[in-house]
Amino acid sequence: MRDEEYSPSEDTFFVANYLEKEKGTSALDVGSGSGYLTKLLSENFTFVVGTDINFVVLKNQTYKTKNLVCCNGSDALNIEFDLVVCNLPYLATDEILDAATDGGKDGFEVPKKIFDSLYKNIKVGGKFLFVTTSLSDYQKLMDHAQKLGLTPRILAKKKLFFEELILVEAKRE
Ligand SMILES: C[S@@+](CC[C@H](N)C(=O)[O-])C[C@H]1O[C@@H](n2cnc3c(N)ncnc32)[C@H](O)[C@@H]1O
Repeated sequence: MRDEEYSPSEDTFFVANYLEKEKGTSALDVGSGSGYLTKLLSENFTFVVGTDINFVVLKNQTYKTKNLVCCNGSDALNIEFDLVVCNLPYLATDEILDAATDGGKDGFEVPKKIFDSLYKNIKVGGKFLFVTTSLSDYQKLMDHAQKLGLTPRILAKKKLFFEELILVEAKRE
């Protein structure tokens, strides 16, 4: 696994733009990376946790926050949160060479693993925000969220050079 953190990029700022309007008691950032989104959440939520599968990245985060856990998805957590956020490794790839970006087949394999882990951590009445791309099979991902009992809808799209970023909100009703 590469030890360099994923620097805040277009997709990070795309989610950040929406997070600035969110407020509540508890929030979880899965795949915290540099900690940019986790730190942003700390401004409007009382209790915030960030997780990442990469221990070295988590230990050396650029944007520091208090509650960090190294695990797959949110496997180690039994708490329910008002808001769960994930800027996923969403790229469709044959192999997982870079854990920060590679999503595996159809861009579904790694996100599925993360969804299966985190849906238990969304409060009833809470929501999950995730980013994906038009280059991956995002419909498959939304269908999977629905299978897990969530109600997904596309919140926003952003055109880049050769892809569109897609922000999805999945409510647990
Ligand atoms: C695209 S980066 C996003 C980083 C940061 N949240 C941002 O928006 O800039 C994805 C992050 O997810 C982490 N990650 C990949 N697979 C994971 C998994 N199964 N469980 C938890 N974190 C994972 C990577 O190590 C990486 O830090």
